Amino acid sequence: MKVVVFGATGMIGQGVLRECLVDPRVTEVLTVGRKATGQGHAKLREIVPADLYDLSTVEDQLTGVKACFFCLGVSSAGMSGADYRRVTYELTIAAAKTLARLNAGMTFVYVSGAGTDANGRSMWSQVKGKTESDLLAMDLDGYMFRPGYIHPSHGEKSRTRLYAALYVVAKPLYPLLKRLAPNAVTTTEDIARAMINLAVSGTEKKILHPKDINSAALPL
Ligand SMILES: NC(=O)c1ccc[n+]([C@@H]2O[C@H](COP(=O)([O-])OP(=O)(O)OC[C@H]3O[C@@H](n4cnc5c(N)ncnc54)[C@H](OP(=O)(O)O)[C@@H]3O)[C@@H](O)[C@H]2O)c1
Repeated sequence: MKVVVFGATGMIGQGVLRECLVDPRVTEVLTVGRKATGQGHAKLREIVPADLYDLSTVEDQLTGVKACFFCLGVSSAGMSGADYRRVTYELTIAAAKTLARLNAGMTFVYVSGAGTDANGRSMWSQVKGKTESDLLAMDLDGYMFRPGYIHPSHGEKSRTRLYAALYVVAKPLYPLLKRLAPNAVTTTEDIARAMINLAVSGTEKKILHPKDINSAALPL
């Protein structure tokens, strides 16, 4: 199957791209972002559209897609509500609309976050909540991932400087965290495996928390 990965340069996206390249069920991977990962692989093609909010110029490359793994996103820290909404909501919805029009019913997995709530108190949780609900209303087989702590399985690095630093500190604590709170943690590898499994066989649950993501990652 052909899959599209948004945000493949990010921590989660790096893990998702890696798994897509090693999993034989994925035959073609197309990355879309504001820059390419620069990796070379027979299954991989990368596009850097002039305007990520308007994918009409690259539509011919977005057909025949079975699934989109949407890992593009930002931390709201230090951002205005309008700027955060533009990247989190507008970019995601614009991409999803184009993909749904070209590939009705395709799988669309969106990486949201723990605490997402359209009626929540914080700006970011409202924006992510609205993004989730609009995605779930589209002609897509949508799944919303709400991971908590994510362990980078293969040295994936966050593009967000603060998080990259925090991960250096948190990494040695992961085995303990996993033992104490197994249902609150997941890994980049399990996120990626869950995404691919959902593209292959789907599941009834549309909003997946760490425990659900880890279950969905198990071999089919
Ligand atoms: N990491 C976690 O622990 C965690 C937990 C829960 C939820 N999440 C969510 O998962 C998503 C991805 O997280 P991550 O940790 O992989 O983030 P990351 O390492 O900071 O990567 C972010 C990705 O989004 C892209 N991006 C950011 N702003 C963009 C913009 N304005 N235009 C185009 N592309 C943009 C980046 O591209 P460039 O390389 O071009 O910058 C990169 O590919 C985010 O929505 C985050 O909130 C993360």
